[in-house]
Amino acid sequence: MTQNFKITHLPEVDSTNNFALSLLNKKSNISYCNTVIHADFQTSGKGAYKNTWESNKAENLLFSIIICPEISAENQFLISKITSLSLIEYLKSHGIQAKIKWPNDILVNQKKIAGILIENSILGHNISTSTIGIGLNINQLQFSIELKAISLSLLKSNQKFDLSSELDKFLLFFKKWLNICHSNSETVHSEYFLKLWGTTEILNYKDDNQNFKAKIHNIDDFGRVTLQLTDNQLKTYGFKEVELIY
Ligand code: BTN
Repeated sequence: MTQNFKITHLPEVDSTNNFALSLLNKKSNISYCNTVIHADFQTSGKGAYKNTWESNKAENLLFSIIICPEISAENQFLISKITSLSLIEYLKSHGIQAKIKWPNDILVNQKKIAGILIENSILGHNISTSTIGIGLNINQLQFSIELKAISLSLLKSNQKFDLSSELDKFLLFFKKWLNICHSNSETVHSEYFLKLWGTTEILNYKDDNQNFKAKIHNIDDFGRVTLQLTDNQLKTYGFKEVELIY
């Protein structure tokens, strides 16, 4: 059974992921397992692929969860899967149907409501610590158009939510999926696939050479996607090697 999470709240930090990583560098890792760093504002919020993560002050959830999972390095994408599934279930508890956009985005009506940035440290063949950074748009009402973003409040008639209670709610779902992942990774794989955007419909993709249409055939344990092209050819890509156009 997973322990409860200890939450540290900071008014401002460069990045909750960086703060968590510096804790892990300082002391014996073990004392920081199941710690959550929650900030109101980040001065250098990090997005995936060296992008930045922008968020108005105290309007959204910005947090990093440190876990010390018993997961082999080969299965590291399991952590992304349970994080995505927890976000999907959290949103469902608000009556919102969201989809996972491979590999790390959560979308509602094709707009991004949450992003995930996971930084693992590996010891031998295993993950020793995983820092799971989550940006979840809660109360922000305006986003620049190019971000194609949305928030819980925008989806719920501009209703305002208490950030700490929303974090607590999310962590309940996360705890549940963390337990499932240790006992039944097959359930995690199948649920993730069900919630993934583009498994039943043909979507437009772009790789280094061309634009093409495909549907998702599989996601492996490393997180690589296998696409089935319209001529039935199968092609496997790692992160950043292929992009969904929408
Ligand atoms: C992405 O979609 O590009 C990933 C975004 C991850 C943003 C979160 S906000 C909290 C945590 N701290 C960071 O610096 N980044 C993550």
